[in-house]
Amino acid sequence: MPDNKPDSLVDNNFTRPIRSFVKREGKLTGGQKNALEQLWPTHGVDLGDQRLDLTELFGRSAPVVLEIGFGNGLSLADMAEAHADMDFFGIEVHRPGVGSCLVQAKKRGLNNIRVSVDDAVLVLNQQIADGSLERVQIFFPDPWHKKRHHKRRLIQPVFVEQLVAKLKPGGKIHVATDWQNYAEYVLAVLSTNENLKNAVADAPLAANFLSPECSVLTDSTLWANGSLTIEESGTIEGTAPVDNPLLTQGCSEKPSYRPDTKYENRGIRLGHGVWDLIFVKEK
Ligand SMILES: C[S@@+](CC[C@H](N)C(=O)[O-])C[C@H]1O[C@@H](n2cnc3c(N)ncnc32)[C@H](O)[C@@H]1O
Repeated sequence: MPDNKPDSLVDNNFTRPIRSFVKREGKLTGGQKNALEQLWPTHGVDLGDQRLDLTELFGRSAPVVLEIGFGNGLSLADMAEAHADMDFFGIEVHRPGVGSCLVQAKKRGLNNIRVSVDDAVLVLNQQIADGSLERVQIFFPDPWHKKRHHKRRLIQPVFVEQLVAKLKPGGKIHVATDWQNYAEYVLAVLSTNENLKNAVADAPLAANFLSPECSVLTDSTLWANGSLTIEESGTIEGTAPVDNPLLTQGCSEKPSYRPDTKYENRGIRLGHGVWDLIFVKEK
């Protein structure tokens, strides 16, 4: 079980100075601690600099779903239980959440879950082979509400390029969020990736997304007339209009495979909406 990782593994030619999370260690419950100790040898994945052999990792050849930021892992365990023919690799930096996911795996006898307790950006970059994933799912990622924090958002154009490389042709990226501004932002980022196609037929073009006057100009400037621009660093800053019917047109129905999650329920209690964005890798 990783705790104090050697520097060589953390840095390893790839630095991401701005992180999408603030690590709050939190106290492990007895059950989480036991589950981490007992199941880590079979269900845990240490950070390394070699590509994982997913067939070896899961002990069989089956479609692999990667979930980033699974929180307490309850919805990941639900999916693994409901889809025994698929394998689920979850990455979550919050150790108690990973412990609680393993509690569920133990309780339900799930052998199709593997977990990592490191930054998904590193795990993806160092350990996941290109063309190996059926689906990447990111449910209710931290929205980083304040504009000055938007650069911390996990979903950025460069990160999406990395995700796309890891997908099989026809593979999917599924993001769900309860924060409208993040939904708009994610829709813009995913729509602008030339290898992705919105799963919604006749979804609005990215160029039309924020307002009819907006258009894609160059790699570094996304919107001509809106307030959203891709900065040199590859991040998007800005806000979109409050009433945005095009957002609804760009979103998918919640698919039956996605269980409600803890953060989703919290958002609903606070009166937030829920947006599911699903894009398919075309080539
Ligand atoms: C808002 S919570 C959502 C949790 C869960 N998906 C849900 O819907 O209940 C976002 C989670 O993403 C995790 N996270 C953020 N950035 C991450 C990263 N780069 N790698 C792994 N986990 C990350 C956080 O620790 C947090 O648990």
